[in-house]
Amino acid sequence: MNILVLGGGGREHAIGWALAKSPKCEKLYMAPGNGGTAGIAENVAGLNAEDGAAVLAFAQEKAIDLVVIGPEAPLVAGVADVLRAAGIAVFGPSASCARLEGSKSFSKEFMLANGLPTADYGVFDDESSALAYLDEHAAPIVVKADGLAAGKGVVVAATNEEARAAVKDAFGGAFGAAGARVVIEECLTGPECSLLAFVSNGKAFCMEPAQDHKRAYDGDLGPNTGGMGVYSPVPIVTDEEMAAMKDVMARAAAATVGEPFDMDYRGCLYGGFMLTPTGPKLLEFNARFGDPETQVVLPRLQSDLVDVMYAVAEGRPEDVELAWSDAWAVSVVLASQGYPKAYEKGKVITGIDAAEALDGVTVFHAGTKVADGAVLTSGGRVLNVTALGDSFAGARELAYQAAALIDFDGKQFRTDIGAKALRGRSAWE
Ligand code: AMP
Ligand code: GLY
Repeated sequence: MNILVLGGGGREHAIGWALAKSPKCEKLYMAPGNGGTAGIAENVAGLNAEDGAAVLAFAQEKAIDLVVIGPEAPLVAGVADVLRAAGIAVFGPSASCARLEGSKSFSKEFMLANGLPTADYGVFDDESSALAYLDEHAAPIVVKADGLAAGKGVVVAATNEEARAAVKDAFGGAFGAAGARVVIEECLTGPECSLLAFVSNGKAFCMEPAQDHKRAYDGDLGPNTGGMGVYSPVPIVTDEEMAAMKDVMARAAAATVGEPFDMDYRGCLYGGFMLTPTGPKLLEFNARFGDPETQVVLPRLQSDLVDVMYAVAEGRPEDVELAWSDAWAVSVVLASQGYPKAYEKGKVITGIDAAEALDGVTVFHAGTKVADGAVLTSGGRVLNVTALGDSFAGARELAYQAAALIDFDGKQFRTDIGAKALRGRSAWE
């Protein structure tokens, strides 16, 4: 099969890497790809992944059998719809389905209508009614821009002043059109857990759980980022919580078919949960794989990802079978100095080969490019150093051993990925 993957981050490198392992993958294109995907696929630099007509023209020219859409922006822009209408198999939901991620108010409406556990909330289209709601609901409280805001649209406000400032920012245009509507919700507590599922024709096939570390610095301090490190499985989740989360994903998938939502979801549905004292509750849905969750989940997948994604894309859930390795996976993100704020690019990276020479280590590229034979930094999150091991502590140690072999000017990373979970659930109390 000829396969095209849209996107160019660590998530897409991991997806491409898993697809390329399949004997069914004949030719792999990545658009735009990155310095790492250049080694496993043909990078297509000039293709705008959010332009459905351009992607369709490329797919037709190259006789692509399956398009896999990595990031949310092309999904929300309806690229899957354009391709599907032309008869091309697509792993990635339609624009209508992608509202589960692209509109927080729609997502909450979907959760409420289907009895899926989530924080209590209100939706506001003007500043004064949002501020009036804050008069009635005390901090801590969470203020969210409705639309896509590159992970920056959520403020967990410790005080009423902070919440009011967040509301004013959103309506003042800080997130553009994404902030013209605001969701304000109850502040939940507990560890977070990401549970991703392949969803097709109303059926959910849950993957293994993962836990991301969203804050920039050790001890969960500093600004929110796209994710600084991750591990899978998640030992602090109880069997009861796991069953509850799987039930939520199954019910969500079932609700995508038939009235009133009628969404024909075909792709990955990401459930972002908080394990609260009263059970797991949804913080959000994403309409795509998580980044960096994918970089620890897919290395543990033993099934052929081409088979799985093609069956999902064609609406054949009866053909989806998932098998997982028992290995533990830990991934440490190496970022550019200053990330998630301003950072410099173009630093020479050394030591990737030495890191990958360690048994069990794979380095997924996120923000890199190759120029004149050298690998250079080209983004905020630069590399994801993933290690597989027989134990959580062993995988963690190996990931850090590999991360130490890699160097570039300004290398910034957390030294405590997985450390809290190793201490056990009581570390959250
Ligand atoms: P989201 O983009 O909705 O996942 O929010 C980003 C982050 O904000 C989450 O990963 C949580 O750490 C935090 N967050 C979101 N919603 C809530 C909530 N209702 N209570 C507490 N923390 C939240
Ligand atoms: N790691 C969080 C996300 O992909 O949204």
